[in-house]
Amino acid sequence: MIFAANWKMNMSPVEARRFAQAFLQAVPLEAHREIWFFPPAVTLAAAVAAFRRRPDVRCGVQDVHWESSGAFTGAISVPLAASAGATVALVGHSERRHLFGESDEDTRKKVTAVLSGQLTPLLCVGETLGERERGDTMAVVLRQLEAALHGRDPEEVSRVVVAYEPVWAIGTGQNATPDDAARVHALVRATLEGLGASSPQVLYGGSVKPENVGALLAQREVDGVLVGGASLDSATWADVVLQGSSAAAPG
Ligand code: PGA
Repeated sequence: MIFAANWKMNMSPVEARRFAQAFLQAVPLEAHREIWFFPPAVTLAAAVAAFRRRPDVRCGVQDVHWESSGAFTGAISVPLAASAGATVALVGHSERRHLFGESDEDTRKKVTAVLSGQLTPLLCVGETLGERERGDTMAVVLRQLEAALHGRDPEEVSRVVVAYEPVWAIGTGQNATPDDAARVHALVRATLEGLGASSPQVLYGGSVKPENVGALLAQREVDGVLVGGASLDSATWADVVLQGSSAAAPG
């Protein structure tokens, strides 16, 4: 089970150290559970240091450039992220796609770069409200998955973790019902298996909080969560992890 915290454009190095201290006291190490943090790039090294004693914690970046170095002002490459301690990278978050104009093709190049740098990509997919209302949810999710993963080696596809995040549920307080999420997750899983993945992991994201994490993780199809707002306070995030872990479906 994976609990992933996307801190977005929040959390200074000092705040991250304070967060880690309180969080690690509240949440003991547990088998079969990983906790991932995606701090802003300037906070990555501080987060890596603050969590270094905990083998269940991984830190990563919120975005990467597909080139490994060069004149790309403001961007971060996979080798740079790895040198600061990142072992995971978000790719194709809806805010990158919709606020920064990232295309399916960009997302594909980023997945390639992350895989060749031996990091784990957490690939985000999900439909907008308009797409949902037109009944296009499944088609959009399928298009995004295929654009990013089609034609890859099964070994590579097996290393990709996918987060289904309906765009209309991100930061809005609305979320998909556990049944809705499970239906899309089943499609994601079947698609990943069709591309050769062995035991794919599919996370859910969008307004996850202590009150709804249990019902989501009780679904067999949901292997973890990707959380923004409710991951910014150490006590709330500890609550998400603890409540989610105790409600999770066995296996
Ligand atoms: P949220 O964000 O939990 O604040 O809805 C989720 C995300 O964007 O990954």
